Amino acid sequence: MRWKLLYHISSLLGLLPFWILCTSSTNKCAVRHEVADCSHLKLTQIPDDLPENITVLDLTHNQLRKLPSANFTRYSQLTVLDGGFNTISKLEPELCQKLPLLEILNLQNNELSHLSDKTFIFCMNLVELNLKSNSIQKIQNNPFKNLKNLIKLDLSHNGLSSTKLGTQLQLENLQELLLSNNKINLLRREELDFLGNSSLKKLELSSNQIKEFSPGCFHAIGELFGLSLNNAQLGPSLTEKLCLELSGTSIQNLSLSNTQLCRTSNMTFIGLNQTNLTMLDLSYNSLKVIGNDSFVWLPHLEYFFLEYNSIEHLSSHSFYGLFNVKYLNLRGSFSKQNIFLASLPKIDNLSFRWLKCLEYLNMEDNNFQGIKSDMFTGLIKLKYLSLSSSFTSLRTLTNETFVSLAHSPLLILNLTKNKISKIESGAFSWLGHLKVLDLGLNEIGQELTGEEWRGLENIVEIYLSYNKFLQLTSNSFALVPSIQQLMLRRVALQNLDSSPSPFRPLHNLTILDLSNNNIANINDELLEGLDKLEILDLQHNNLARLWKHANPGGPVHFLKGLSHLHVLNLESNGFDEIPAEVFKDLFELKSISLGLSNLNILPPSVFDNQVSLKSLNLQKNLITSVEKDVFGSAFKNLSNLDMSFNPFDCTCESIAWFVNWINNTHTNISELSSHYLCNTPPQYHGCPVMLFDISPCKDSAPFELLFMINTSILLIFIFIVLLIHFEGWRIAFYWNVSVHRILGFKEIDSQPEQFEYAAYIIHAYKDRGWVWEHFCPMEEEDQTLRFCLEERDFQAGVLELEAIVNSIKKSRKIIFVVTRHLLKDPLCKRFKVHHAVQQAIEQNLDSIILIFLEDIPDYKLNHALCLRRGMFKSYCILNWPLQKERINAFYHKLQVALGSRNSVH
Ligand SMILES: *[C@@H]1O[C@H](CO)[C@@H](O)[C@H](O)[C@H]1NC(C)=O
Ligand SMILES: *[C@@H]1O[C@H](CO)[C@@H](O)[C@H](O)[C@H]1NC(C)=O
Ligand SMILES: *[C@@H]1O[C@H](CO)[C@@H](O)[C@H](O)[C@H]1NC(C)=O
Ligand SMILES: *[C@@H]1O[C@H](CO)[C@@H](O)[C@H](O)[C@H]1NC(C)=O
Ligand SMILES: *[C@@H]1O[C@H](CO)[C@@H](O)[C@H](O)[C@H]1NC(C)=O
Ligand SMILES: *[C@@H]1O[C@H](CO)[C@@H](O)[C@H](O)[C@H]1NC(C)=O
Ligand SMILES: *[C@@H]1O[C@H](CO)[C@@H](O)[C@H](O)[C@H]1NC(C)=O
Ligand SMILES: *[C@@H]1O[C@H](CO)[C@@H](O)[C@H](O)[C@H]1NC(C)=O
Repeated sequence: MRWKLLYHISSLLGLLPFWILCTSSTNKCAVRHEVADCSHLKLTQIPDDLPENITVLDLTHNQLRKLPSANFTRYSQLTVLDGGFNTISKLEPELCQKLPLLEILNLQNNELSHLSDKTFIFCMNLVELNLKSNSIQKIQNNPFKNLKNLIKLDLSHNGLSSTKLGTQLQLENLQELLLSNNKINLLRREELDFLGNSSLKKLELSSNQIKEFSPGCFHAIGELFGLSLNNAQLGPSLTEKLCLELSGTSIQNLSLSNTQLCRTSNMTFIGLNQTNLTMLDLSYNSLKVIGNDSFVWLPHLEYFFLEYNSIEHLSSHSFYGLFNVKYLNLRGSFSKQNIFLASLPKIDNLSFRWLKCLEYLNMEDNNFQGIKSDMFTGLIKLKYLSLSSSFTSLRTLTNETFVSLAHSPLLILNLTKNKISKIESGAFSWLGHLKVLDLGLNEIGQELTGEEWRGLENIVEIYLSYNKFLQLTSNSFALVPSIQQLMLRRVALQNLDSSPSPFRPLHNLTILDLSNNNIANINDELLEGLDKLEILDLQHNNLARLWKHANPGGPVHFLKGLSHLHVLNLESNGFDEIPAEVFKDLFELKSISLGLSNLNILPPSVFDNQVSLKSLNLQKNLITSVEKDVFGSAFKNLSNLDMSFNPFDCTCESIAWFVNWINNTHTNISELSSHYLCNTPPQYHGCPVMLFDISPCKDSAPFELLFMINTSILLIFIFIVLLIHFEGWRIAFYWNVSVHRILGFKEIDSQPEQFEYAAYIIHAYKDRGWVWEHFCPMEEEDQTLRFCLEERDFQAGVLELEAIVNSIKKSRKIIFVVTRHLLKDPLCKRFKVHHAVQQAIEQNLDSIILIFLEDIPDYKLNHALCLRRGMFKSYCILNWPLQKERINAFYHKLQVALGSRNSVH
């Protein structure tokens, strides 16, 4: 709560200076270089504090009533003055005097109603004058006479009833005269006389209710290249008259869009015979009937716009004469009303055969029944053909469908939105030049055997996205290895795991779109060999399992080897795990999208090879922490990051590094304050991550060190305690040994031949039978060998401690015969053992030999005698064998043990 309050207060404080700035000086213009932008400032006066050297002044959308010339003295360098969208009703002639360099004066959307001869008298350098949307109803005399350099004059949206802008020749450099949306309904020769020396590229007379063209009106103009008469109710007869008036002019571009030209005949355009018309726009005319030979008068026509009409029938002579047309737009040109009456628009065979120069043909948005065998015959230069949404029932593409295009050098064919359901073998075999084929947004549902593409020898792009279903085989694209872009989005792809991969032949593939297919099963061969792949779209599939640790056979590395990949989209695949190595081959990756997944913890180093990454999208995952060892290299050169909507854990360990990076980066992170919120800990829930205070995190560093030292000490302590508990005897024992050695108790061993006995034998009284039985024969065998046996060598079994000590000293080795009896034997055993061990410590560790007659656990041995097997060399520990045949081996071992010198190493 406190955090939130603080946040609000601080943001208010942050706004304060801005607010002061806004209220104190409402008319602050933005000046950059020599451009001053004073728009939308509610100005009522011209600012007087702008730099004197500005060349562009924008005063649009203010409340200026006039442009007092005195106030412009300062800005004599202006070349552009924009005073549009004010309430200026009067202009001072001196304005241009003060601005001798002015080239563009824009006064559109003001309240000018009267222009006098003086208004622009000093505007000699004006190139462009915009008086659009004022209230000028009449031009008297010659206000534009001095505008000798004017190229463009806009007087549209005024109340002019005449084209007359002057009484004498003027505007000799004018190229564009815009007079649309006025009240002109008659074009008179004398009202255009003032343009007698002009050469107009464009005369815009659209949206005037023109009813009449008086004889010679267009001939009054010096030269007229372009005329627009859109949105005028011309109809067929006035159009014919217009064309007759244009006869003999230099007209090249004629726009007659939306002029109610419902029919054309062989007379409509006759007047254009004597012109070089290259562009004709007849769009939006409800044109129903094109009479034969209508366009025979247009042999120079190159661009022909006929879109959105209601042509019912294109006969074989409708387009006769259009020998030079390069571009023909027939989008939505044909009637649609009658689909239910089964009278679909009709195109006769060979209708296009006259269009020998046609390169671009757009027939989108029509309702043709199908493609007839001679429909496109004769289009010998056709390169682009769009048939998108052109047919009502083009269900199956057969090997005959496109036969009429066999002689066209077609490069692009667009067949989208036609309800095509099947492509038969060889359907495109006529189109050997084709580079781009768009079959998207149809209803194709079939197995792609590969034969569909037969003959497409130059194909570069195939779009198949948005179809019903496509079943792939290894040969699906075997005949089109030249493909560079293959789009297979949302086509319910099946059989992607076939081997070899369907994409295996496509060595030149750079873009592959497999998104929205619910793909769940692929193998690591799928993209193998696609070394040129740059863009891979795999979003909206079901690939999560493939990267799971627990996937049978391990994670599937389907991205391996894609060393030129630039863009990778894996959004919405449900990934909750990423194998650490999965991106390691993708050195050139620039953009990666893993948004809308379930990722929480990413393995460290997963992006280590992505140092050229420019864009990273991880929005809407379950990421709680952003740490350097995961994101450090990915963030290095990033320009765009999207990690919005993750449940960030706002603790030092999880996001301190991230927040620090955010504060120091130039990377573009949009919606940082609203879409990057803390989820945990509870007290920060809902707070912006960027406000997380990292200063305490830095302070915690020494504490961290202290903590580490403390825990280490504790751990070492625990280790020592445990060591002492379990191995203490060993430590104590070796400690003793070492101490004795260091203090020099070596002399005992220094006179080796002082021993009387080979060994002193310690055993329980009850075991004496076994001892006699087995040691006496050894003595008999080897005369030099003598053991010290208590019962034999001491008188009458009387045990005197001193005698024992002496005897032990006189023995080279001490043998313990370990049995349960020995452990229980009360007789001085501890004394003997202690003494023996003492001697062993003083002399050497291998002076003691343990012979186990039965299996005695170490702990019992330790408990009863304070001895452990671990104290002695392994050859000094002997076990009495159960099997007879091993007894010899036992003796051998015993002799080895006895023979080993009590050496000090
Ligand atoms: C225009 O004037 C401003 C100061 O008023 C100056 O900083 C700038 O350099 C000048 N520009 C030129 C091109 O002289
Ligand atoms: C504009 O000029 C008028 C005189 O024509 C003067 O009174 C006014 O102060 C000037 N305004 C500015 C902002 O220079
Ligand atoms: C126009 O067509 C009519 C027949 O429809 C024909 O009689 C006439 O001669 C044609 N005119 C021209 C100029 O071709
Ligand atoms: C059309 O113009 C050509 C010359 O450009 C001329 O030979 C022909 O007679 C004209 N046709 C008509 C009907 O005026
Ligand atoms: C049409 O163009 C030709 C050659 O480009 C030219 O000689 C002829 O005068 C032009 N016709 C018109 C009416 O401008
Ligand atoms: C078109 O396919 C049919 C069989 O479906 C075949 O008989 C005919 O020869 C093929 N035509 C061409 C031009 O390949
Ligand atoms: C095909 O036409 C459709 C509809 O005009 C368009 O959206 C699509 O981009 C075109 N395809 C190609 C490859 O130009
Ligand atoms: C692949 O591209 C290279 C270079 O652009 C070209 O030489 C080669 O013919 C293309 N391969 C195919 C099968 O089109």
